[in-house]
Amino acid sequence: MSQLVKYGKNLINSQHANLSYLLNLFIKLLFLLGFVLWAWMFSLNSSHTQTRFSIEGVTQHSNGEKVFDSFTIKQLEFFDETRLIVLNQEFEIINYLSSIQLAIAHLLEQIGLLFCAVIVVISLLLWHQKKQHKLSLFAFGFVACALFSGCFTLFNLDVNNGLSLYASIGILIVCFVFYACCYSLLNARSQTASTLLAFASQSGTAMSIAERFHKQLPNTFDLRCLSSLTPDCLGQYRQVLLIASTYGEGAPPETAVTFLNKMKKTQTLTSKVNFSILALGDRTYQHFCAFGHQLAHLLSSKGAKQITDVIEVDRGDKDAIGHWWQQISHFIGNEQSTVSLSDNYHRLNTRSNTLVNPKKPKRAAHRITFKNEGLTYQAGDLLEVIPKYDAIKCQQMLREKGFDCQQQVIFQNTEMPLFEAVRQSNWLGENATSAQQLVDVLKPLPPRVYSIASAPHESNIEIFVRRHFDDLGKPGLASNYLCDLSENELISARIKHHANFNLPKRHCPTILIGAGTGIAPLISLLKGMSVNEQRLPAWLFFGEQSKSTDFYFKDEINAMLSDKSLTHFTPAWSRDGGGYITEQLELHASSIKKWMLDDNAMIYLCGKQKGFGDSVISCLKSILEERVYQSLIEAKCIRVDLY
Ligand SMILES: Cc1cc2nc3c(=O)[nH]c(=O)nc-3n(C[C@H](O)[C@H](O)[C@H](O)COP(=O)(O)O)c2cc1C
Repeated sequence: MSQLVKYGKNLINSQHANLSYLLNLFIKLLFLLGFVLWAWMFSLNSSHTQTRFSIEGVTQHSNGEKVFDSFTIKQLEFFDETRLIVLNQEFEIINYLSSIQLAIAHLLEQIGLLFCAVIVVISLLLWHQKKQHKLSLFAFGFVACALFSGCFTLFNLDVNNGLSLYASIGILIVCFVFYACCYSLLNARSQTASTLLAFASQSGTAMSIAERFHKQLPNTFDLRCLSSLTPDCLGQYRQVLLIASTYGEGAPPETAVTFLNKMKKTQTLTSKVNFSILALGDRTYQHFCAFGHQLAHLLSSKGAKQITDVIEVDRGDKDAIGHWWQQISHFIGNEQSTVSLSDNYHRLNTRSNTLVNPKKPKRAAHRITFKNEGLTYQAGDLLEVIPKYDAIKCQQMLREKGFDCQQQVIFQNTEMPLFEAVRQSNWLGENATSAQQLVDVLKPLPPRVYSIASAPHESNIEIFVRRHFDDLGKPGLASNYLCDLSENELISARIKHHANFNLPKRHCPTILIGAGTGIAPLISLLKGMSVNEQRLPAWLFFGEQSKSTDFYFKDEINAMLSDKSLTHFTPAWSRDGGGYITEQLELHASSIKKWMLDDNAMIYLCGKQKGFGDSVISCLKSILEERVYQSLIEAKCIRVDLY
């Protein structure tokens, strides 16, 4: 079985989206308030040509007697040095700020500066947000702060620091022009994104398809992860296009659960929604594309209009994806109804292929390394491999049908010998009049995805593969192809980024839980962490049958324990009487809870879904409480990669 993995990807984290919304609102209010204050300050100014003094200034720079002459003793008692007085050239009082007004003015000036600092900090925190959010924050923040802190100094009401009136008006005009430019830019952008393109993905296929569509028409689509949306958001768009994969036994991807629940609770959608769904799945599962269909029924039952049938995609079938794109092109007014789904696969040279558990022939696991010639990836990423049928068998079959195996043909835009094309396709022995005609009707085999066990700083890319056989003992195509690789044999592969299983930007304690071949990405993450000089607690829980035969990556784990990049290691050797991993988790429940809730740790979970994954998830839910578990999933503090 392919090592497809399960995770949730948030392009825009919903918490941040809400924060950004509130911040925007706050800054707009600030802007309004700043404007009102500015107007008030302006009204205090006289239209006369005037000289401004504080009492102190009057006594220092003017003829004191003349000033005192112009006031009655009673008036003089009314002022003191803390107040601001505006006199005309005849030294008559034309305006003044009372002590309360002056105190408010100075306070607001300080607050303005404080806001400025807060806005800069929050904007930096939201740096990963879409450009328009950032721009909006900066535009409003800048103008609001300029108005706030500037209206006192700019308009020369603060006698000590004031600029000239012309300079201050100039600065204000620049602020407004900047604001107007940003505003029109923002509006222009939001108007063009009339179509929502949302994805619900576990292992990134739906997301990468959505990204390709978005790349083709960046101004047409607003690209979002379903987890960042609420049912009400849908009504803001002319069309809603959803790309949804199915997991578990016909279940939604984890990050789509919250949206699904909100949708179920919605009575009817308040505004008109037109939608179309591309459902990703795998026909070998009983509930093929079930979540895509469930979503379609749900949306229809809430009053949304389905503009195309649900298009089902079996293991990334490009024809089905192209068909959907053609259909929706009509609705989004796109003239270019073909989408480029070109795949940049690389030729990787096999360096080594080591069977790590020779005493377990039924569970044979291989560490396979390839020379990395320029592929960039991050710890936790995946390797997408094109599987191939056995070369000798294909050549035999072709000869039996009377074909020349070495004849050059074009398959998937690449020239290659006929037998190579047939190895990578779904050829079942059908006949054709020519070699090229034969390959023209063949479909490429869907690629398989494996977790990378190496880290980017290493010279090899390593994967860890278990040889798979089905219930009838039939060997799995991809795992057997890989486990049979010999040194220097070339494979076609590419990196598949697994953003939700990479290391976070923040440096934090980490709990890694894996079983069987699920240890591979955890080793990659640990290696990635070990590069960092600052050592933080890292705890590996690993479940396998027995220590003597199944202690995979033993040398690496021991080395990491001694250099302290791994601080805790808790194996569960089930056949040595060590119990299952869930028992170990329960045993350490209070520490896990403390790490997660007090120390802001991350959890990475990888392994088979059935048996291992499901039981670990329910164990974590009981340790942390279900509600907390779900919120940690959505905050990406728990990252799950099950296959
Ligand atoms: C653990 C697991 C369970 C799956 N369950 C189903 C299923 O019930 N029905 C289905 O059609 N596809 C199922 N699939 C296949 C995925 O939907 C399919 O591979 C899809 O392309 C993955 O898209 P994603 O990478 O965006 O998550 C399953 C895959 C895995 C790894």
